[in-house]
Amino acid sequence: MNHLISHSAPRFTFRLFAVMAFAALLVLFSGGYTEANTINDYPSGDRSGWFVDMNRFAQSAHAALTCDDCHGTMMEGGRRHPDRTRPDFLKRSATRAYDYSRCGKCHQLAYERYQSGGHAEAMAAEQKAAGAGNGETRTAPTCGDCHVSHYDRSGLPRVDVGRRMIQTCGRCHPAHTHSYLDNNHGRLGVDLGDAKSAFCTDCHGAHTVNSLKNDHNALAACRRCHQKAEAEFANIVIHASLESAPTTETEKKRSLVWIERVRWISIAVVAISLAFFFGHSFLWLLREIHEKLRKH
Ligand code: HEC
Ligand code: HEC
Ligand code: HEC
Ligand code: HEC
Ligand code: HEC
Ligand code: HEC
Repeated sequence: MNHLISHSAPRFTFRLFAVMAFAALLVLFSGGYTEANTINDYPSGDRSGWFVDMNRFAQSAHAALTCDDCHGTMMEGGRRHPDRTRPDFLKRSATRAYDYSRCGKCHQLAYERYQSGGHAEAMAAEQKAAGAGNGETRTAPTCGDCHVSHYDRSGLPRVDVGRRMIQTCGRCHPAHTHSYLDNNHGRLGVDLGDAKSAFCTDCHGAHTVNSLKNDHNALAACRRCHQKAEAEFANIVIHASLESAPTTETEKKRSLVWIERVRWISIAVVAISLAFFFGHSFLWLLREIHEKLRKH
């Protein structure tokens, strides 16, 4: 008897432990998987790390390159890094410290387009505002905010590239990303995975960053796919948020204002109904209490 107990108890504990360990692993891996594929790949500030996963690097578009092709010598300003005398060096955001003109050696077209686009312009304005040498207040993106140089692959399916933009562009343009997802193109492309639909860069360009507030530019973007589109086509609202409304008085702006008014009216109706409902229930409760007290 004694013999039996002493064996079965540890076995039971062991099984329980195994199940728990398995469950923990599942949780870890499911968490790890999504993290590895999302925003944490972009090294910046606290998330920076000096670990390079060579398995993923070997599968990336840049697998054939050497570290030196992008990093040059491991010297900066005459000092070898990591520099023990400057611990802050390690804490700097790598995306901000990196000199992206190096990418232009091999990706001349992308680099030139980026330089001529709205993001580079916004970056220049921010740097000017922050004063020379203080790049840390930046919010406009460089290559490294949208591309993970060590791990990005080439030749991904169009829909995968399009879905990634929801995270990449969505970090800084959340309102436009939400309104895009509510729109025909977002539903068709992101939800249903139809490669024919339009993703952010089909209309705005990845590096030129075209502003489409101007109807003429918008129509040109639409005509890439809706070849027979007439001038009125550009009046169609893609992002139903006042943030992207044209500055001049146009038909599109009027529709946006109406969309906004209807939204506020519906919010008001819901709020008033809720207030009435809870107010009514509260009064009813008071009445019940009153009745109960009266009976006693
Ligand atoms: C295609 C260009 C490219 C290649 C090849 C490359 N790197 Fe990088 N690396 C970058 C860029 C760009 C950054 C700055 C962070 C960012 O924007 O991705 C960086 C950042 C780093 C960092 C700092 C990361 C951090 O978060 O602080 C380390 C360490 C590093 N690289 C090591 C390597 C090593 C080791 C190799 C070779 C196996 C290598 N890199 C190959 C482009 C490259
Ligand atoms: C020494 C040349 C070289 C440098 C420097 C370089 N790349 Fe590349 N890059 C390549 C090659 C080669 C490919 C693979 C092209 C292919 O597979 O068609 C590539 C592919 C890419 C892709 C994937 C393109 C696709 O097909 O989707 C991106 C994104 C990219 N590079 C970004 C960068 C960034 C950002 C930098 C700077 C940090 C950089 N590259 C620096 C040579 C380079
Ligand atoms: C605002 C985000 C963003 C920035 C900043 C950005 N890219 Fe891209 N890039 C993209 C997206 C999204 C794609 C893929 C979709 C497409 O091509 O329409 C892409 C595609 C690419 C490609 C492959 C296709 C092509 O056009 O050759 C290369 C190479 C590339 N980028 C390099 C760069 C370099 C180098 C920089 C910095 C000078 C840079 N990118 C800056 C978002 C960005
Ligand atoms: C790191 C933040 C950041 C990321 C990532 C980013 N943007 Fe931007 N974007 C900005 C800033 C800052 C501006 C300039 C100020 C503004 O108009 O909000 C801007 C401006 C724009 C404009 C207007 C350009 C103009 O000339 O007025 C468009 C269109 C745009 N971004 C599209 C995109 C798309 C598409 C992506 C993804 C491929 C993207 N952005 C990713 C920060 C970002
Ligand atoms: C079908 C084409 C189309 C797609 C796809 C699209 N947009 Fe737009 N976007 C426009 C048009 C047109 C405007 C001008 C205002 C409007 O009509 O709402 C605009 C306006 C903007 C603006 C305001 C700045 C400006 O001057 O244009 C930003 C930022 C922006 N879009 C970001 C995005 C992001 C991020 C995505 C993807 C999540 C996206 N857009 C997808 C067509 C598009
Ligand atoms: C990359 C291709 C592409 C671009 C660029 C594009 N669209 Fe579309 N759009 C589609 C596809 C695909 C559909 C769904 C199939 C269809 O009905 O034509 C669609 C559907 C629509 C619809 C739904 C009504 C309908 O015809 O079924 C509207 C409205 C629309 N697009 C407006 C625009 C506007 C406005 C622009 C420019 C700002 C634009 N699109 C740019 C691909 C695109």
